[in-house]
Amino acid sequence: MIKNGHCAGGEEGREAGAEPGGTLCSPEKRRRTVRVWCDGCYDMVHYGHSNQLRQAKEMGDYLIVGVHTDAEISKHKGPPVFTQAERYKMVRAIKWVDEIVEGAPYVTTLETLDKYNCDFCVHGDDITLTVDGKDTYAEVKHEGRYRECKRTQGVSTTDLDNPDYQQHTDNFGKGPKGHSPWTGVSQFLQTSQKIIQFASGKEPQPGDTIIYVAGAFDLFHIGHVDFLETVYKQAERPYVIVGLHFDQEVNRYKGKNYPIMNVHERTLSVLACRYVSEVVIGAPYAVGKDLLDHFKVDLVCHGKTEVFPDKDGSDPYAEPKKRGVFRSLDSSNDLTTDDIVQRIIENRLQFEARNQKKEAKEMAVIEAMKRREEQTEQAAQ
Ligand code: CTP
Ligand code: C5P
Repeated sequence: MIKNGHCAGGEEGREAGAEPGGTLCSPEKRRRTVRVWCDGCYDMVHYGHSNQLRQAKEMGDYLIVGVHTDAEISKHKGPPVFTQAERYKMVRAIKWVDEIVEGAPYVTTLETLDKYNCDFCVHGDDITLTVDGKDTYAEVKHEGRYRECKRTQGVSTTDLDNPDYQQHTDNFGKGPKGHSPWTGVSQFLQTSQKIIQFASGKEPQPGDTIIYVAGAFDLFHIGHVDFLETVYKQAERPYVIVGLHFDQEVNRYKGKNYPIMNVHERTLSVLACRYVSEVVIGAPYAVGKDLLDHFKVDLVCHGKTEVFPDKDGSDPYAEPKKRGVFRSLDSSNDLTTDDIVQRIIENRLQFEARNQKKEAKEMAVIEAMKRREEQTEQAAQ
């Protein structure tokens, strides 16, 4: 089916009254707006999800993301770590997303694509199966309304759910690899290309208010999003710079095996957030003179969480406080990275059972694919 004759640039890229093939658009506006659909669980939203949505947005002009309910995910995969309300908010905060559809069906149908006027859907190059082991994209694949993007190596919700993952301070090797190529992950390798793809590349403009915040932003979660949204609202034209502490620094003040995500992974998660303009990779712990002057910082913010002292016991925000540019903000969300880890540990058994089931289903599909290939080869001989 051909979609409406959308013109790029109007309300949602659509020109009022335009019919399919209509002539209401000026010639230069005649290029149709390509509306792209993605759907998924988007549980423990990570930079793999963000990278999928970034690639999907590049395939068109307007990106709609359908997010499944807790009930649907529990039925097909097992219970999610984050509630649907949290997952909706996390996906909305990703800068490539134009619109979200709450409670999208688990199986992607032509009816759904047509309902939201989407040309096609985009999914990573792994396979998603229903509780009965069927490909959830079979119908749209058959009708040629399916595109694939590259799945991001090195991260998966399944892997983050694995308690072994959290025993790594350096985060290399992560959890034990599964036998299925889609469950269990390989090592994430940061590249300059990936940073360029995620970064806005925008310099602050005259009249922008430069706001600086610092932290670990580990397992980037809804508490961070609420905080960054509050920060963003502090000015009419905010330019928000996030200073990320190196892993060793985070480990010094957070202890245990933190951070769970290394600085490269944390960089991508933060850059994907629509409230963030720039990231300092490996920011000094003390927000000192040099940093404030270098970035011409107008305001420094910190949430309601504890401020850990510097190595020498001093307050890392002493300088901005002295200058009168420090503000403590209440994001009304007290979720911490520790809470998420607790949620995972409490649900450990359920997660393990769920992941074993997921992998067994994937292996059954791989075996079936292999058998089909062998049969085709034999028939050709
Ligand atoms: N995705 C990706 N790269 C990853 C993880 C997920 O491109 N490292 C993509 C998936 O291919 C899918 C979308 O993100 O198109 C949403 O995935 P989701 O429904 O959340 O489930 P999973 O693929 O199972 O994600 P995970 O492996 O993280 O559990
Ligand atoms: O703990 P972390 O270093 O990741 O926090 C980064 C910033 O986000 C800090 O300013 C912290 O106070 C803020 N935050 C918040 N609300 C949360 C979690 C973090 O305001 N629930």
